[in-house]
Amino acid sequence: MNILGIETSCDETGAAIVKDGTQILSNVVSSSVELQKKYGGVYPEMAARKQVEVIIPVLEQALRVKGKEEIDAIAVTVGPGLIGSLLVGIECAKTLAYVLNKPIIPVNHIRAHIYANWLTTHNSPQFPALCLTVSGGHTELLLMEDHGKWKLLGQTLDDAAGEAFDKTARLIGLPYPGGPEIQKHAKTGNPKAFNFPRGMVGSKDYNFSFSGFKTAVLREVSKLNISQLTVDLSASIQEAIVDVLVKKTLKAAEEFKPKSIIVSGGVAANTRLREKFNAQSPIPVYIPPVNLCTDNGAVIASYAYFNFKPIPWQETQALATL
Ligand code: KG4
Ligand code: ZN
Repeated sequence: MNILGIETSCDETGAAIVKDGTQILSNVVSSSVELQKKYGGVYPEMAARKQVEVIIPVLEQALRVKGKEEIDAIAVTVGPGLIGSLLVGIECAKTLAYVLNKPIIPVNHIRAHIYANWLTTHNSPQFPALCLTVSGGHTELLLMEDHGKWKLLGQTLDDAAGEAFDKTARLIGLPYPGGPEIQKHAKTGNPKAFNFPRGMVGSKDYNFSFSGFKTAVLREVSKLNISQLTVDLSASIQEAIVDVLVKKTLKAAEEFKPKSIIVSGGVAANTRLREKFNAQSPIPVYIPPVNLCTDNGAVIASYAYFNFKPIPWQETQALATL
């Protein structure tokens, strides 16, 4: 089965065709990150306007590998995300479904990130799997018993992990997106130079909090000549965020005894996070390649295949209530 996946929940515009949930036939992503850099973050209206411009060229390129009649269904992110951006993808998906007479599959963006791990390996992760999804907008820890069977163990009570990278990067004078910038500068820095707080690391639940950490970085930065300390600040920031994510996930692994750990979302691109999980986890850890960690249409199509709940195009008004 060939599914076309469309993703426009934030600043990326993605379209991909995936066969049987696992085989990427095409995967095209256009990012407005250069625009976001100018403004120091995602400016929702700008992002959506850019998506209106690029959605058709992106779709056209993704569809080149297959005849349109060979597409069996159209999957689209319906949330969570920026409303203007989501609407660009949803309206395109509805139009295509109508014109091609195909069903449409609504997709949850956060859960879709997890499926990057079905696109890269012949060894699918074993269930039950403990899933840490860490992106610019979300931080969730889930227990996944099977496709479509999830239990939310915890989530962030304030900022997402990626947001913690982005906001503290800005405080120390690094451009957006902060995660890759902090990672780059952290390479030559001392992760112990600053002992930033690990929010909720010892709490009994599996929730996360990064706002206290952010305030601690701000307090420190206001006392310092940051240009001389960027690398040490970056290394210490990265260590604090990664440390909490790994510790809480491994604590949940001890309690729930999953067969595998799945890490996904933009922050899963972080090399220190990968290093720590691989070094410390007693069970197999699945982390996708960097290009599948950040937003793309392929994960949307894969999720749709394994959670196949199509809506006939005649009933797409149902999408308005999702
Ligand atoms: O999944 P994603 O593309 O978009 C959302 O769904 O939010 O994630 C983007 C986030 C940004 O906050 C970015 O700073 C972070 O992922 N990120 C990283 C790295 N690459 C991207 N964070 C840490 N280290 C990285 N290498
Ligand atoms: Zn995402």
